[in-house]
Amino acid sequence: MGGDGPDDAGGARIVIRRARVEDAAAIARVHVDSWRSTYAGMLPEKMLLRLSSASHEQRWWRHVLGRFRNRHYVYVVEDEAEGVVGFASGGRARDHGLAFRGEIYALYLLDEYHGRGLGRALFVRLAARLLRECGTTLVVWVLATNPSRFFYEAMGGARAATRTDRMGGARVDEVAYGWDDLEQLVAVGRSGEAG
Ligand SMILES: CC(C)(COP(=O)(O)OP(=O)(O)OC[C@H]1O[C@@H](n2cnc3c(N)ncnc32)[C@H](O)[C@@H]1OP(=O)(O)O)[C@@H](O)C(=O)NCCC(=O)NCCS
Repeated sequence: MGGDGPDDAGGARIVIRRARVEDAAAIARVHVDSWRSTYAGMLPEKMLLRLSSASHEQRWWRHVLGRFRNRHYVYVVEDEAEGVVGFASGGRARDHGLAFRGEIYALYLLDEYHGRGLGRALFVRLAARLLRECGTTLVVWVLATNPSRFFYEAMGGARAATRTDRMGGARVDEVAYGWDDLEQLVAVGRSGEAG
């Protein structure tokens, strides 16, 4: 997995590449779809229903990939048959109270692409970029009830902080996972890549 190699888990060719502004609509669709399936039962229903139209999301991603492209680093997973099936974005850490310089803002794959090593490959690709742009430390905030937080534990993240936020009128608990040595993580991750 990686730059241009075929996906050895399936038959179709899958690549991870830097996102372009033309990907905004596809990223918005993946974002809305995976938000719904990930957060059903975790976030207020009305908040998930409000996402019914991806048009707002699409405008946001067009903005990020156009005007803010120097501040947001966005990668997509593209299946040659299905188009964009996942994405990850990151940049400078937004919570300056923690000693982490880089942050993963979002990392989502459509359900049917889970469990094939794509999350790891996407994570390593974005982490390599954040290592160059922001330095060797990284943080990600995840809902405490989201089982995907175990993915970040599998990636070597250590619980670093907790906070309570308000989303859609409800209080939600979040956990931060942190990395102190991205260089090692990226080196190990790359050595496991197929191509
Ligand atoms: C989180 C996510 C990106 C992981 O991607 P993935 O392709 O399924 O993960 P991988 O197949 O690359 O797995 C990598 C490792 O993480 C572990 N892992 C992945 N998801 C896990 C889970 N829910 N619970 C426990 N371990 C998990 C795998 O077992 C694997 O461990 P190993 O290398 O020791 O065998 C994907 O499940 C997803 O998009 N989830 C919904 C969106 C979300 O919640 N995103 C995070 C919030 S921003």
